[in-house]
This record gives sequence, C-alpha cells and structure tokens, in this order.
Amino acid sequence: APKPVSLKDEEDDDDVIASGKTKVTIFYGTQTGTAEGFAKALAEEIKARYEKAAVKVVDLDDYAMDDEQYEEKFKKETLAFFMVATYGDGEPTDNAARFYKWFTEGNERQPWLQQLTYGVFGLGNRQYEHFNKIAKVLDGQLSEQGAKRLIEVGLGDDDQCIEDDFTAWRELLWPELDQLLRDEDDENATSTPYTAAIPEYRVVVHDPAVMHVEENYSNKANGNATYDLHHPCRVNVAVQRELHKPESDRSCIHLEFDISGTGITYETGDHVGVYADNCVETVEEAARLLGQPLDLLFSIHTDNEDGTSAGSSLPPPFASPCTLRMALARYADLLNPPRKAALIALAAHATEPSEAEKLKFLSSPQGKDEYSQWVVASQRSLLEVMAEFPSAKPPLGVFFAAVAPRLQPRYYSISSSPRFVPARVHVTCALVYGPTPTGRIHRGVCSTWMKNAVPLEKSNDCSWAPIFIRQSNFKLPADPSVPIIMVGPGTGLAPFRGFLQERLVLKEDGAELGSSLLFFGCRNRRMDFIYEDELNNFVEQGALSVLVLAFSREGPQKEYVQHKMMDKAADIWNLISKGGYLYVCGDAKGMARDVHRTLHTIIQEQENVDSSKAESMVKKLQMDGRYLRDVW
Ligand code: 2AM
Repeated sequence: APKPVSLKDEEDDDDVIASGKTKVTIFYGTQTGTAEGFAKALAEEIKARYEKAAVKVVDLDDYAMDDEQYEEKFKKETLAFFMVATYGDGEPTDNAARFYKWFTEGNERQPWLQQLTYGVFGLGNRQYEHFNKIAKVLDGQLSEQGAKRLIEVGLGDDDQCIEDDFTAWRELLWPELDQLLRDEDDENATSTPYTAAIPEYRVVVHDPAVMHVEENYSNKANGNATYDLHHPCRVNVAVQRELHKPESDRSCIHLEFDISGTGITYETGDHVGVYADNCVETVEEAARLLGQPLDLLFSIHTDNEDGTSAGSSLPPPFASPCTLRMALARYADLLNPPRKAALIALAAHATEPSEAEKLKFLSSPQGKDEYSQWVVASQRSLLEVMAEFPSAKPPLGVFFAAVAPRLQPRYYSISSSPRFVPARVHVTCALVYGPTPTGRIHRGVCSTWMKNAVPLEKSNDCSWAPIFIRQSNFKLPADPSVPIIMVGPGTGLAPFRGFLQERLVLKEDGAELGSSLLFFGCRNRRMDFIYEDELNNFVEQGALSVLVLAFSREGPQKEYVQHKMMDKAADIWNLISKGGYLYVCGDAKGMARDVHRTLHTIIQEQENVDSSKAESMVKKLQMDGRYLRDVW
C-alpha cells in the first residue's frame, strides 16, 4: 500500500521559490540500494557545486499517493533526475513499479511536461537481455511527453564497474548544469570542483551490563500491518532436507518456513525474500580484520549529538544497539567484491602509507584496469581485500556506512501452493559453492545458511529467518481447463511444483483440468533429479499430463529442455494455438534465452511463417500474458 505523503512538500516548494533558488528533484528506483546511493551522492555534489540549487532526493514510491497526485506534482517539477535500476526480466524495481506503470501507460497524453528538464541514469547489467530497459523507456517517454533532455541517458553496467559509468555520466552533466545553475553575476565561473566526503555514522558504544538488546523482528500481524522488504516477518524453519541423491557432489535444499499465525499470505507463483545471516567463520574473520571484539555493544546514528544531520548520503541505519557479531552477521555484505567507494574509505583509514597509496590507486581512473582485474575478475571479496591491507581498520561508523554495503535479501520462487500446504512457504535452493580465481572457496550467503539450517523437526532451538513475500505475475490461468506448458530445468522447477500442487487441489475440488506439459532437465537421473517421486505422483494423480525429461550428462551428447521441446514442437504449438500458456523458469542468461529462440523456431516451422512474423507472434503471446517468464 502506498505510504502517506507529507503535506510539508507544498510549503517547501514555496520556500524554494521565495528564496530564489532552483528546485532540483532526484528520483530513485532502487532494489538493493545502489540507485538510492547514487541519487544521494548526486544530490550532495549538486549542493556542493551550486549554491542556487535546492535539492531533494525522492523515493518514487513516496512521491505520490495515486496517479492523480503524480500528475499534479510532476507538473510542478522543472529540473529532475532519475536514477533507475532495471530488474529481473526487464522490470522496474518494486519501489518504482507504480510510478512506471502510471507514467508509461499514460502515453496517449498530449505533451504535458514542457516545463521539465531532465536526465536519466540507468542501472543494469549487460549480461541480461533487457539491458537498462527501464531507463531507456523512461528517457524516451519523458522526451515524448514534452520534457527537455539535458543529457543523454546513462547506461550503467553492473557487469563491469557501474561506479565508473556513473562518474563518466556526471562528468558530462556538469557543463550542462553550469549553464542552468551557475550564478549569473559570475559569468566565467564553472562549478566548484568537488570531492565526495566519506559518509560516516555516529557510533555510541554501550555497556552490556546496562543496555539490553531487543530482538527487532516481529512475527505478529498487529492490526493491518503487512510485511515487506523493510518489515520482514520472523519465521521458523520447519523442515530442511537435501534433494540431491547421495551420488551427487552438489547440493540442493528443500526448506519449509512455518508461517502459521503470522498473517503472511501468498499465491502460487509468488517469490519469498529471505534475509540470511553470514556464517560464523565470515563474521569472525570480519571482526578480526576490524580489530574489534564480537561482543562489542554499539548503536549507530545518522544525527550528530546536537541533533544536526551527520550526512544526508548515509544509508538508512540498521536497528541498534546490537552486538558487533549481530551487525556483521545480519547487515554487512562481506563476500562481494568491494566498490571503489569502499576502497576510498579504506584508504582514508589505512595507517600504513603504502597501503593507503595502493588503495587510492585501485580506486582511481589510472587504476581502472587493475581494479577490474585484481578485484572484479578475481572475485576478491571485501574480506580478502581487507586482509591484503591489514593497516586499514576503519572505525565502525565508517565501515557500516561506506565500506560494507547492506546485506541484501535473496529471492526465491516459492515451490509450494498455499492451497496444498496452508501454513508453509517452501523453497528449493541450489547451494552456491565453488572456488574463485584466488583459490578462495565462495559460499553463497543464503544457500549456505539454508544448507546449515536446523529445522523444528529436529530441534526446538531451530533456525529462523526474517522473510517477506514479493508478488509476481507468474500465475496459473484463471481457468484451470486452459492448457499449460512449463519449462523449468534445475531449480527452475520450483514454481511448477507449486503449480502442480495447486492443480492437485483443484482436481480434488472437482475442477476440469486442461492438459499440461512439464519439461524438466538436470544432469543425471541418479544425482540431481529433484522431487522425482513427487513429479511421478503428479502424473499418476492426473495433475500433470506429460513429464518430459532431459538429462544433460548421461549420454555422449547434452540433452537440454529446448531439444526436447523441438521433439514435441507440434504438441506445443497445438496447445498454444488452443489458448494455452507457456511458462519458463530458471537461468536467464543461458537457458531462458535458448528456450526463447526455440519457441521462435517452433512457431516459424509450425506456422510456416518468416522470422519477423514469428517474432511478432512471440511478442503477441507476451503482450497477452500467455508467455510468462520467471528468470534470474
Ligand atoms: P549442464 O550443466 O550439463 O550444461 C539444470 O541446471 C540443467 O540445465 C542442467 O542439466 C544443465 O546442463 C542445463 N543447462 C545448462 N545450460 C543450459 C541451456 N543453455 N539451456 C538449457 N539447459 C541448460
């Protein structure tokens, strides 16, 4: 539900006009906080460079309560920047979804934004098909709706160094902003050069004998409280078991969260966001590198003792007081390669001059190649980097504000149906485990946590995690008699297990089920054929018409789901032509891309049409919501 918007905005606008300043609004659409960080950094720099600018940073969701208010408020903007990430299968981030829908669907509007000058910087990843789609569409629409583009859309690529892309985009921005925001009396001046301050929380250390640490996660839906990214619900792990067979050298975990009594509801096909803790070894290593005791009890604050702000580019603080152990376990991303901003902060606190120099070099434009080699390509974790620079022990206020990003929740496609298992959320999670180029064994934070989780079945002192539901549009057809085709190799099977559970219930309730086809693939029947018995049971019970299997490492040749789809091309096209739905779930970069091409080929061959006609038929299926993808 949209949050109420403070009425103070209107007064602020009047103040800005009265003061003769120029209002600059920086909007952000963020999922993991990077776009938010960029928005705040841009705001800081504009403030520092231009006295004339009255800058505001705005979460797109908080900006307006409804479409009408969006329109009303947008008409009053004159200079605005958008820092927007593209997420998943070319989607806006959750906090930008409402705005994006309103803005892009209102395109029958006459040009109505002539008063607005704007710039867009996108955050995306070139590895994905819809690279920076949201930024590109937004940029195009703003221009179409009459706004004036101040600067070419920036296309940040997280596969390389997105901070560099952002820096490069800003360098192009300043000459343009000089024209708009430079003081008129100062004809020749350009904006003041600027170095970003390193953000830092104020830290207070407490005496554990006096201060009591309160658990901050609730699991009671009080009144109409709902759970979300910022308000997760604490739930127990009820069941945990290995899905791979003993012969497998990999691991895939089946986990069940107990949601009884929490008020959590979900639908088949939704996602669950899970906050997992870093493992004990990682936490201990981090404390050692920081030179601080794990039991240290402290709190972090964004205001100074006199009540003034400690810095507006600070990320929102986590709940404290807490022990350093808890802060490192829950809130610090310690295993991803550090950003350049983190290296700058480490450099500022390295007591050994040679270490400070090297860190500065790595974060500088001259050190670009070394950074991309030594940090990014080598997948050096933050902890590995800190271990190489032992004199750099930043204070905790700097560490949590500028060095370690906030640990993000991981999203999983729920592998159950609430109609089949009302009080449970099931997750199917492959363990992320393997050596990196430096020889470190990388263990995925959340999958390792799930692998080690102790279920209530085995202990009353069981594992728990803060979770929340994220809705998806990956849903069964409303009419159960509509045929469905599901393609989900590996853990891509997850949502289809939910679909099939749901169909089992529908069938028991007397519904007439349309035919269904599931393409599942794995390496080897004797190793990683997950949920084998259940799948066979779905067939026996009539919830699934045909199960098609592809084993990639059994014979001399790789057998993939798309090869099996080609074998069944006529059946597939027959079902789709009859109004059937096609669902694809799993890896976006390889499998989903190849399956997409296969669909294209099937249509071309079955309908005997040329490539561009087949293309438009695929598009049409997508537009009609009959070709749905849940990919990562
Ligand atoms: P592989 O690892 O033997 O290459 C689940 O991960 C299954 O998906 C595995 O059998 C894996 O095979 C297979 N897979 C890997 N790449 C794929 C692709 N591009 N298309 C379809 N399946 C793929």
